Amino acid sequence: MNFTKHFLLDPVSVIEYVKVKTKIFSPAANLSATEIGDGNINYIFRITDEDTKQSIIIKQADKLLRQSGRPLDVDRNRIEAEVLIMEGKFAEGLVPEVYFYDPVMCVIGMEDISSYQNLRKALMERKTFLHFSDHITTFIVNTLLPTTDLVMDASAKKVAVKKYVNPDLCKITEDLVLTEPYINYKQRNIIIEENQNFVQKELYQDEALILEVGKLKQNFMNNAQCLLHGDLHTGSIFVSADSIKVIDPEFAFYGPLGYDLGNVIGNLFFALGNVYVTESILPEAYIAWLRETIEKLISLFISKFNKKYKEIVTDVMFKKPFFMKYYLDTILTDAIGFAGCEIIRRVVGDAKVDEVTLVKDKNKRITLERILILSGKEFIMKQKQIKTGIDYLNIFDNIMLNIL
Ligand SMILES: Nc1ncnc2c1ncn2[C@@H]1O[C@H](COP(=O)(O)OP(=O)(O)OP(=O)(O)O)[C@@H](O)[C@H]1O
Ligand SMILES: [Mg+2]
Repeated sequence: MNFTKHFLLDPVSVIEYVKVKTKIFSPAANLSATEIGDGNINYIFRITDEDTKQSIIIKQADKLLRQSGRPLDVDRNRIEAEVLIMEGKFAEGLVPEVYFYDPVMCVIGMEDISSYQNLRKALMERKTFLHFSDHITTFIVNTLLPTTDLVMDASAKKVAVKKYVNPDLCKITEDLVLTEPYINYKQRNIIIEENQNFVQKELYQDEALILEVGKLKQNFMNNAQCLLHGDLHTGSIFVSADSIKVIDPEFAFYGPLGYDLGNVIGNLFFALGNVYVTESILPEAYIAWLRETIEKLISLFISKFNKKYKEIVTDVMFKKPFFMKYYLDTILTDAIGFAGCEIIRRVVGDAKVDEVTLVKDKNKRITLERILILSGKEFIMKQKQIKTGIDYLNIFDNIMLNIL
């Protein structure tokens, strides 16, 4: 095999591929391969040298989606490789190192980060990570602000916008996050029987809400502010005792900065909702850490953003302090709206989260879903009133008190 034409690798051919196409392992190495991917889109293999235990990850994009078999542009794989490399420069150590990218086979060879744990799973085990808010805000500020017009040369930025047009993957977000939870025009929502009337009333029939989500969708589609990660949920973030690694930027494109921040914030509310609804004896330390993390996400984002802004923005117009304040305010407002959209879509859409689906007690599941939907709605409707993490938490607490 010379791998000059794309075909789907399997655990046997991927070993041959690594031997023929790379010099990462010695030619005589005794390699084994396993498919480890649990995602919906691509194929992930771990290749291990059985003697030295050195390992790498091979991520391959197919022309068809792994789960549904629907076609999906493989250019997402180039975007992922380039963005991972860029993120590694802006936020050193916070993404897996990319060893190579093969545009023919649509393969990325990268660092194996198996010593880190999927944050969503860690949160379900009620683990705490004191460093998390610090690392994730560094990641967001350091990877996003340098890609804006405020920092980049205006022509180079326009070229970059073109290079990272990602229509297929954006369409997934535009539909599944920003349309279908409110207008179920493709009939793809999956809603438990007991909450169907609730969703009808609270989402499908709420035109004031739909208007606000429409504005967010318009913003998402037209505000080419920065090169986003685009899918920064807690399953794309891996954690260890002292650091994080962010994976999977295949949804990257030029969009509103608040989208990534809002995604992280929204995902923490799944963990918070899950713990309050499911635990009869509340794990106080975990809850305190989670609430503090939500607060710090906002406060650290603001302080790091302002600091970095002062350091790297050179444009005579944009470096005015009053412009910086305006710009930050719009990002924070966007983030609140997108956090609300992420929360709602994970409850009613088909891409659900463990924090919801693993709740087997029917009544608890109904309750959790309602708390999340109403919180998401209030975030969207009160974008301009919410200023701090405490404001988010107060909204959530009040809704929870009314429902529990
Ligand atoms: N560099 C890596 N090191 C170790 N494990 C990895 C690495 N990259 C991916 N994985 C494993 O494979 C899983 C799926 O990876 P990833 O999210 O990149 O795939 P995907 O097909 O794009 O998934 P999704 O449907 O979420 O978009 C991860 O949750 C993780 O368990
Ligand atoms: Mg992915």
